[in-house]
Amino acid sequence: MQKIVCKDYNHMSETAAQLVLDALRDKPDGLFSFPGGDTPLGLFQAFVSKVNAGEADISIASYVSLDEWVGMAATDEGSCGHFNYTNLLDKLAKPFARVHVIDGSADPYDQRDLLNAFIEANGPLTVSVLGIGLNGHLGFNEEGTDFESAAHVVELAPTTRRVMKKYFGDKFDPKLGITQGLGQIMQAQTVILLANGAHKAAIIKEALNGPVTPALPASILQNHPNVYVVIDQEAAGE
Ligand code: PGA
Repeated sequence: MQKIVCKDYNHMSETAAQLVLDALRDKPDGLFSFPGGDTPLGLFQAFVSKVNAGEADISIASYVSLDEWVGMAATDEGSCGHFNYTNLLDKLAKPFARVHVIDGSADPYDQRDLLNAFIEANGPLTVSVLGIGLNGHLGFNEEGTDFESAAHVVELAPTTRRVMKKYFGDKFDPKLGITQGLGQIMQAQTVILLANGAHKAAIIKEALNGPVTPALPASILQNHPNVYVVIDQEAAGE
């Protein structure tokens, strides 16, 4: 595990974007997975500007989204799909060769199957970029998730349901999510875990230094052979 403590959010985002680009150069036909949430916005912007400037070629690469709120479409502001399209996919001058974004407005079990099929056909993941939830979730792999899991439909944890209000207020109230599984994340060639802000310091400390246990899903990354933990000084505070 390589821990990179960055001076601020911009530095974190630039560093992570560079790591993705390095992996893209090594495997131009690879499968790249980015999350939704507040954390990766700067990475999306840095990645788009580098790709559009010709620093990397995504023309034979594939893209897959990490997770989605059940009941929300990619046109709904606050959904992971909306975030993926408006901040990344729609901004790229030239598209990825193949794109799979989970559709939270469709039948969730069909979406689970489609996500598994896409990863099976184009994977394993080359890079999995992840944020971390305040409860230690990765994607929507909540407490107690099987470490071997493939994509699945999940009942959202109370912490996740509390935090989700920041994305779309009371307009939506999803109780379920769809997520790539921990088994798929662990098969990624490279994992990049991002975290910024003092509110993430306690969970980062626990996930990286505490016991590896399904009670704290992100702790599984201690067992991954090629993880970059790219965090700002505040998230590294503990
Ligand atoms: P955030 O969410 O990036 O909005 O903090 C991270 C997560 O819950 O995985």
